[in-house]
Amino acid sequence: MTLTIEAPAKINLHLQVGKLRSDGYHDLLSLMHLVDLSDRVSLRMEGKGGTVELEGNFDCRKEDNLLYKAASAYLQERQKRVPNASPAPGLTISCLKRIPAGGGLGGGSSDAAALLKLLDRFFGAFPQKGVLDEIALSLGSDVPFFLHTGAEIAQGRGEVLEPVEPLPAYPLVLVFPKWRISTPDAYASVDRLRREKADRPRSLSLEQLRESYSRPVAQWPFFNDFTSPVLLQFPESRNLLLGLQNQGALFSQMSGSGSTFFGLFDGEKTALRAFERLKSMGYRCHLGKMLARPYDPVYNGR
Ligand code: C5P
Repeated sequence: MTLTIEAPAKINLHLQVGKLRSDGYHDLLSLMHLVDLSDRVSLRMEGKGGTVELEGNFDCRKEDNLLYKAASAYLQERQKRVPNASPAPGLTISCLKRIPAGGGLGGGSSDAAALLKLLDRFFGAFPQKGVLDEIALSLGSDVPFFLHTGAEIAQGRGEVLEPVEPLPAYPLVLVFPKWRISTPDAYASVDRLRREKADRPRSLSLEQLRESYSRPVAQWPFFNDFTSPVLLQFPESRNLLLGLQNQGALFSQMSGSGSTFFGLFDGEKTALRAFERLKSMGYRCHLGKMLARPYDPVYNGR
């Protein structure tokens, strides 16, 4: 028997980086929204009881893979929290990757959250509330988001979540430049620019964020605090942003700490034109739409 689920990417419509905290994380105010580009995560009950195997080509050691970490953390919690839990069967996990890694789209986090949903479906919910969220946060700051609805305001280090009404299925273009930036480095660059006073922090209050989201997309005052350091380090990304704007994007921005840029469009024709134009500039792109809800697990009985 195999359980399968689509693990969608997210984009940050707004991403405001606050102060560095004593635990090494930054406080955030962010608005995340699912999009229709997704990985596919599958779980099979196979192999020696209690073992976790990964199937496919991964570019890191098994133990460093977030899917492996998610399964191990889940099994550990189950052992601890479920009285008289039956011994776990062997788990074999595979993942069809479509979301570029390290692109600010939360691909790895979404895969991990998707696997937690599959495990929850297979083993049944924990008797205690909030365990899945705890496991998710132990795996990464934006993993909890992917357990929830399609659009959420995130605060804290990313785990304090408030659902907001998802957008209609706006046509969307994602553009994937080749360069990559590690998340900790991106945060360090924001801090460094601020120390050098080259970038004064702007800010929206939570109330302003909520209110602005209800305005027409073209009037959003949203920004991403990672954009300035990225434009400094990779000046060609300015062309990319301009490309999206010149092609009529209602709103365009970088997602997460980069490197993916996105544009929202008012119609499929305009989005297709922008997609073709950016492809002709040599960029890998995705033409799709905003996604209102996460996907449900599917059994494909085998
Ligand atoms: O939680 P996650 O594993 O995604 O975080 C990776 C790194 O990104 C952290 O070690 C930290 O350096 C940085 N980070 C941060 N503030 C956040 C989230 C992440 O400084 N809210």
